Amino acid sequence: MPDDSLADFVRRLPKAELHLHIEGTLEPELMFALARRNGLSTPYPTVEALRAAYAFSRLQDFLDIYYQGAAVLLTRADFHDLAIAYFRRLAADGGVHAEIFFDPQTHTYRGVPMAEAVEGLLSAMDEAKATLGVTSGLILSFLRHLDEADAFATLEQARPWLSRLTGVGLDSSELGHPPAKFARVLAAARDLGLKVMVHAGEEGPPAYVWEAVDLIAVDRIDHGNRALEDPALVRRLVADGTTLTVCPLSNLKLCVVPDLAAHPLKRMLDLGLAVTVNSDDPAYFGGYLLENYVQTAQALDLTRGEIARLARNSFSGSFLPDADKARWLAAVDAAAGELT
Ligand code: HPA
Ligand code: ZN
Repeated sequence: MPDDSLADFVRRLPKAELHLHIEGTLEPELMFALARRNGLSTPYPTVEALRAAYAFSRLQDFLDIYYQGAAVLLTRADFHDLAIAYFRRLAADGGVHAEIFFDPQTHTYRGVPMAEAVEGLLSAMDEAKATLGVTSGLILSFLRHLDEADAFATLEQARPWLSRLTGVGLDSSELGHPPAKFARVLAAARDLGLKVMVHAGEEGPPAYVWEAVDLIAVDRIDHGNRALEDPALVRRLVADGTTLTVCPLSNLKLCVVPDLAAHPLKRMLDLGLAVTVNSDDPAYFGGYLLENYVQTAQALDLTRGEIARLARNSFSGSFLPDADKARWLAAVDAAAGELT
């Protein structure tokens, strides 16, 4: 039975979302609407048939469908409509800040200019701040199944918008594409003043997480689940205070965990890791930020104090200015205090 008081508690806690692919917020209804608007066909005849295809047994199953779905995004209006729908959902969940990934190569490969994606997303971010009070950052994520030269060309194309980008990331098919493959382009991005993070340890081995910390010197790790297989790596991540952006419902849908009760989030908290809860690709994985908190808290029997710690970690691990972090941390403590 849904625990309404738990959902209320989570909703009232201010929260930041740090691991969210904006293309992964494309709901089937919007996908069909954009296909119609752009005169495109869809790979599935109905919303129901499309949803029925969302049965994945590994990351690649999902990625194949996710890139196919993104093909309906052509104009800046499309990217704007996609992002503002996400920000409204986030605000309804009590989210106040988001640092969102976008995959420019998914679009430039189809002939969509980078400007259409970036300008559309930035306009939605501005609107979210003005109308919802939700702040945000934009993270350019390189596709790791493509090569280093392609990533460098993508960074070059992004130059006009550097001042509006928060950072760069690394996503797509993890196995066989270690962070080291992109060490030089990620270093170049850092030299341009951008934050650097990589997906590591979702399907890839602890060695990929070691590369992320030692070779890339990341500001954050996306996922990081498999770090738990290596106690020395856990000690290092705890000592460095590295934030891990964990995505429980994503892990469930992509069979990274067999069920939520087996999810390592509680163990990660107990080990002293700076873990956060995030939705990754909520249109595909069955829940936005609030659902991720609530379902995980129920499955792992998290205390209110542990849930508040996850919300605190989401601000500590964000790239917000220190003054804003301090303000939100105080707001989390005040909300948790009132609600317990
Ligand atoms: N992992 C890797 N690449 C991705 C993901 C993910 O969870 N979501 C979108 N691209
Ligand atoms: Zn991700």
